[in-house]
Formats: sequence, C-alpha cells, structure tokens
Amino acid sequence: MKKVYLYKGFERFWHWTQAFLIFFLMLTGFEIHGSYNLIGYENAVRWHDDAGWALLILMIFASFWHVTTGEWKQYIPTAKNVRAQMEYYLTGIFRNAPHPTGKRILSKLNPIQRLVYFALTIIVIPVMVISGFTYLYFNYPIQGFALDSLEPVAFIHTIGAYILITFVIIHLYLITTGHTITSNLVAMITGWEKMDEEEAQVAVEDVIESTKRHYVKQINGDKKKKAKKNKNTDSELK
Ligand code: HEM
Repeated sequence: MKKVYLYKGFERFWHWTQAFLIFFLMLTGFEIHGSYNLIGYENAVRWHDDAGWALLILMIFASFWHVTTGEWKQYIPTAKNVRAQMEYYLTGIFRNAPHPTGKRILSKLNPIQRLVYFALTIIVIPVMVISGFTYLYFNYPIQGFALDSLEPVAFIHTIGAYILITFVIIHLYLITTGHTITSNLVAMITGWEKMDEEEAQVAVEDVIESTKRHYVKQINGDKKKKAKKNKNTDSELK
C-alpha cells in the first residue's frame, strides 16, 4: 500500500468550511421556513444572513484558487465512462466490483462527480447566493431592489435548499464507498489517500507528465539537430 497526496491545504479548508456553512445555512434556513424551532426565528435570520456573507466571501477565495491553480479544469464534465460509473453505483458497488475510473492527482473526480459538482458550483450554489441576497435586500429595501413579490425568490431559494439537502445525503453515503468505509473521509481531512501500488503509480503519472510539459522545453536548435540526426540514421539504414 502507498499514500498519495490528493487534496491540498486550501482545498481541504475550502471543502470543510463550505460543508459547515451549507449545513449551518440549511439548519437556520429551515428554522426560518418554520420547519422547527431551535434558536428562535430572529436569531435564525441573523445567523443565516451572516453565514450567507461568509459563504460569499469563501466562494470568492475559492474561485480565485481554482482559476490560478488550474484546478477548475477538474470540474469540466465529460461523457466518457458516465455509464460505467452509473452501473458501478447501481450494481457494481454491491458486488465489490473495482472502481471503473481511478483517482489521479489531476483528475480526482469520476465522471458523475464531475457532472454533479459542475451543476452545483455553476448553477445551484450561485442561485442560492443570488436568491439569498435578493431575499436579504428585499427585506431591507433602503438600499435594496424593488420587487413586486418575494414569493418567486422564496420559491427558488427553497427548491435550491431541497436540492442541496438531497446532495448532502447522497454525498454522505458515497463518502463511505471508498477502499474502506473511512478512507475518503480521512483523505479529505489529511490530504493523503491510501492506494495500492498500481493505483498510486497511475495517480501520479499525469502530474509528472504535466510538470515535464510546463517546466522542460526542447530548445529549437536541438530540435533541428535531432531531426537531422534521425534523417541521417534513416538513410544509413536504407
Ligand atoms: C449566500 C447564501 C445565502 C443567503 C444570503 C441567504 C439569505 C436568506 C434570507 C435573507 C432568507 C429570508 C430570511 C427572512 O425571512 O427574513 C433566507 C431564507 C431561507 N434560506 Fe437562505 N440564504 C443563503 C443560502 C442558503 C442555503 C445554502 C440554504 C440551504 C441549504 C438556505 C436555506 C434557506 C431556507 C430553507 C429559507 C427559508 C425560505 C422560506 O421559507 O421562504 N439558504 N435565506
């Protein structure tokens, strides 16, 4: 067995802070919605607004990190292996079948995760933030928007909240489906994921290739010399 460093410090900080904020927004949001009474309506509204601001600030930092490190490319959806991954989730997982796609440092997400995380980051979370702030400033119209009714905003915000709850439940279950029941969780805490020798080899290959591409370049003169040398050897062989 080996350990591979998959999740960097900021990535883990962002993941856990986002998880905490979404959980907290869910808890306070459904209190505002009237589903239960835990900390009282007034407090729930105050904490919900503050957590909303914190989520917005986190999103700005996370976007900056994803763009500057190139990590955003890992979220580009792909149709390749979607079916195999779906079959794995529906049946393979219960037969102990191998994972159809391996984790690599430069491609950590399987095709279904790519699709789901892309939809969450590009659609659901931004919709929650936009509808949330519309909701917020509609309530305080001094500096806010003039909307005819709050109903469509509340509707969209609540639908988004249900989508996020569904995601969180499925996500919690899938966390337990790694090599062992806790291996995915431990990896997101420590950054290191346990893999067998072969998987570890595959996981680092693309990072080695990409480092070579980024930091080592062939000098032009050398290229010409090499081509000439190859040509000469070819004609000698003939
Ligand atoms: C930047 C993010 C967010 C902001 C600024 C925000 C803001 C707000 C505001 C201002 C309200 C209305 C409070 C009132 O009635 O006075 C509200 C309600 C609510 N929020 Fe959020 N929110 C955000 C994210 C979320 C998230 C991520 C969730 C759930 C996962 C959520 C769930 C809810 C729910 C369920 C309600 C009650 C809706 C209703 O019954 O009409 N919110 N939010």
